[in-house]
Amino acid sequence: MTAAVPLVGLEDEVLRLKKERNAVLLAHYYQDSEVQDVADFIGDSLQLAQAAAKTTADVICFAGVHFMAETAKILNPGRIVVLPDLEAGCSLASGCPADRFGAWVAKHPGAVAVSYINCTAEVKALSDYIVTSSNAEKIVRSIPEDKTILFAPDKNLGRYIEKKVGRKMILWQGSCIVHETFSERKLIGLKERNPEALIIAHPECEESILAMANYVGSTTALLKYAVSSPAQEFIVVTEAGILHQMQKQAPRKTFIAAPPVANCACNECPFMRMNSLEKVYTSLRDLTPRIEMSPQLMERARLPIERMLALS
Ligand code: 13P
Ligand code: SF4
Repeated sequence: MTAAVPLVGLEDEVLRLKKERNAVLLAHYYQDSEVQDVADFIGDSLQLAQAAAKTTADVICFAGVHFMAETAKILNPGRIVVLPDLEAGCSLASGCPADRFGAWVAKHPGAVAVSYINCTAEVKALSDYIVTSSNAEKIVRSIPEDKTILFAPDKNLGRYIEKKVGRKMILWQGSCIVHETFSERKLIGLKERNPEALIIAHPECEESILAMANYVGSTTALLKYAVSSPAQEFIVVTEAGILHQMQKQAPRKTFIAAPPVANCACNECPFMRMNSLEKVYTSLRDLTPRIEMSPQLMERARLPIERMLALS
C-alpha cells in the first residue's frame, strides 16, 4: 500500500523533502500556481534547460512536460530526474514520431535539421540544432544562407521565424493543441471591449492571431514585456498559467486571458496540468517516476542541445 499524502501542510512537506533529497524543483510557467509557488526556479523552456545544465543537486524534480524532463536528464545523465506525472506529454512531440521525422530528414540530404525543443529525445538525436521560442530566430540566422533548413515540429513557430528572418524553411506540419484553440473572432471582440489593452502572444499561436499582436515572444519574454511596459492592460494569448507570475510581478496591472474557440478551459495545457502539488510531493518522496534513457540516445541527443546552449 502506498503512503498517504498529507492533506494539510503539503507545501511545507515539499520544502522539507527538497532539502532531505538535495533536490531542485524546476517549474514551467504553465504549471498550477501552487506548484510554481514551491519551485526553486520558474522559467521558459530555455531557462529551464539552462538551469538543469547548471544544477549540482542530486535530484531534479521537473514540474513541466516529458520532453523538458528528458532534456534535463540528457544534460544530467548521472542525476535522478523525476517527472511528477509521466503521462505529461505534448501534442507537438507526439505529432512528430522519430521514424517519420528520420524519413523526412533522409529525403533532404545536406539540409540542416532544426528542431523545436518540444520533441522527443529520439527526434533530438536526429537533429542538428535544438531551438526554443526564445532563441530560434538567433539560431536560424546563424545557419549559412546556402543551406536548406528543415524546421520541426511547430509550423506556427516556423512560419513566424521565416517572416522574422526573411528566409524560407521546409516546415513540419505540427501544432500545439493549446495555442491553436485561440479564437480570432473572440479576440477581436475582447480587444473592442478593452481598446487600451495590448495583445501579447506566444509564437505557437496561428498566423492570424500573431498578426493582431502588439508583441510576440516566449513565456519569459511575454512576462518581461508585460512587467516593464508602461501599458496597464494586456490580453495574454498563451497558456493561462503565465498570468500567475504576471499578476505577482505587476499587481496593479490588468491581465486578461485570451478566449479559446469554445467555452472551455482549453487555454490550459492538459499535459502541464497533470502535475499537481500532490504528485510533486509523491515524486520527491518516492523518487519516481524517473526519466530513463539509454546512454547512446542521451549522447546523440545532447549534441544539438549543447549547440543551442552555446548559441544562447
Ligand atoms: P516557452 O517556454 O519556450 O515559452 O514555450 C512554451 C511551451 O509551449 C512549453 O511547452
Ligand atoms: Fe505542448 Fe502546447 Fe502543452 Fe506546450 S502548451 S506542452 S506546446 S501541448
